[in-house]
Amino acid sequence: MSSRPLVLLLSGPNLNLLGTRQPEIYGTETLDDHVTTARVAADAAGLDLEHLQSNHEGVLVDEIQGARGRCAAVVINPGAFTHYSWAIHDALAALDCPVVELHLSDPKQREEWRHLSVVEPVAAATVAGLGGDGYRVAVETAAGLIAG
Ligand code: DQA
Repeated sequence: MSSRPLVLLLSGPNLNLLGTRQPEIYGTETLDDHVTTARVAADAAGLDLEHLQSNHEGVLVDEIQGARGRCAAVVINPGAFTHYSWAIHDALAALDCPVVELHLSDPKQREEWRHLSVVEPVAAATVAGLGGDGYRVAVETAAGLIAG
């Protein structure tokens, strides 16, 4: 059993399609590739990492609630929920650990409806527009926040 601090990586709707979903925007790497990148970064920082992808808002809310008192940080790419899920906002606000918001693309440079992030106000940091490398940067950012 490991006693290393735990980072929870959450992936929202349609991210299971990465690799074939609009590769001109999201690249050709799969979600598994990104999770591997995140795991390598976590391991190098002395952290454990758990990952969950769901297309369902309530599943993500349940998972965030389950992170309370258990996880040292949450890294979340909420997909389109970024722009309207106040349920995810509220669940993240109830956490007692830092949250890092993560996007492959930079939503603020895209369609206007993507410019609002309801996650941003409850995130300690946002990593966007770095493609797959963002997974490494987000975990390293989480490690810095955990270290204080
Ligand atoms: C995304 C950006 C969102 O606007 C979009 O709905 C996604 C992916 C990103 O990683 O760039 O599904 O979160």
